[in-house]
Amino acid sequence: MVGMSADPVILRPVNEADLPLLARFLTDPEATGPFQWLGWSDPERWRREWEVNGLLSDEGGRLMVVTGTDRLGFVSWRRAVTSRSSYYWNIGAQLLPESRGRGIGTQAQRLLVRYLFAHTPVVRIEADTETENIAEQRALEKSGFSREGVLRSTVFRDGRWRDAVRYSVLREDVPTGLPDGGAA
Ligand SMILES: CC(C)(COP(=O)(O)OP(=O)(O)OC[C@H]1O[C@@H](n2cnc3c(N)ncnc32)[C@H](O)[C@@H]1OP(=O)(O)O)[C@@H](O)C(=O)NCCC(=O)NCCS
Repeated sequence: MVGMSADPVILRPVNEADLPLLARFLTDPEATGPFQWLGWSDPERWRREWEVNGLLSDEGGRLMVVTGTDRLGFVSWRRAVTSRSSYYWNIGAQLLPESRGRGIGTQAQRLLVRYLFAHTPVVRIEADTETENIAEQRALEKSGFSREGVLRSTVFRDGRWRDAVRYSVLREDVPTGLPDGGAA
């Protein structure tokens, strides 16, 4: 049963058998939860991208969040460019409904931060979430992110523009060393 596994939470690349589960996040409002449901979109989008690059590129990526053989959701990152010579990552996380509220989002985002600082030279990783998404705000804070401020009317969802909270974590905020636990 999900959440009862004694195995650690790890991040790993998406394989072909994961694609139907990922497609749920493009096709099923119950799977995304209210904050991530933006209407239906191309259900084959991620499969096509996976066939090209395994959902891992220089512009960003997706990794599965798993424990043992249980798939719990995914984490993602994309490049945010601030000048011709500067970029950092903006990250996100989506767990299946039955995997939420057990500390997994906190662990997964902490692992993703360590992974990105280990394998890319950026010094800043940021995340945005709606002001009403308390679970993600708490998960980010517990993953080591600091709250930077509110971005007004940045996300159009379910009929109106929503405010977002921006968080960041800097390389110097994170203890050095190898990632704890699994592939990432
Ligand atoms: C947001 C998300 C990744 C957080 O991961 P999670 O595993 O559910 O969160 P955690 O169990 O690590 O909990 C983090 C904190 O949030 C709190 N929390 C969890 N669910 C909550 C809820 N529905 N309302 C309020 N607080 C909640 C927890 O109590 C915990 O805080 P605490 O330690 O102070 O008690 C996950 O809930 C999710 O995938 N949600 C749907 C998609 C989404 O909104 N993604 C973020 C998009 S920006």
